[in-house]
Amino acid sequence: MQPLILTNYVTLIYNMAQRIFISKVHQGESLLKTLAKKNIEPYYECCQGHCGTCKTRLIKGEVRYAQTPLTDVDEGECLICCAYPVTDVVLEIS
Ligand code: FES
Repeated sequence: MQPLILTNYVTLIYNMAQRIFISKVHQGESLLKTLAKKNIEPYYECCQGHCGTCKTRLIKGEVRYAQTPLTDVDEGECLICCAYPVTDVVLEIS
């Protein structure tokens, strides 16, 4: 039986890899909310998985969505406004 992991970490690479930010993601908190609490505000609009504005490169890790997003999300991308990490994740914002 695998241990239950309650806390995951997000690593964000941004400013063309000039900056790296690492934070704990509290359970039930979206990736966008985690970043916003640390004064990092990527582009977003609807916060409901409809518009795709927050689409971010997911370099590593797995996320889940409370509801299936209405916009297309390709492999290696995630909608940070409504994505919750299932594992530690690495994101990149260009
Ligand atoms: S802000 Fe619209 S899908 Fe995330």
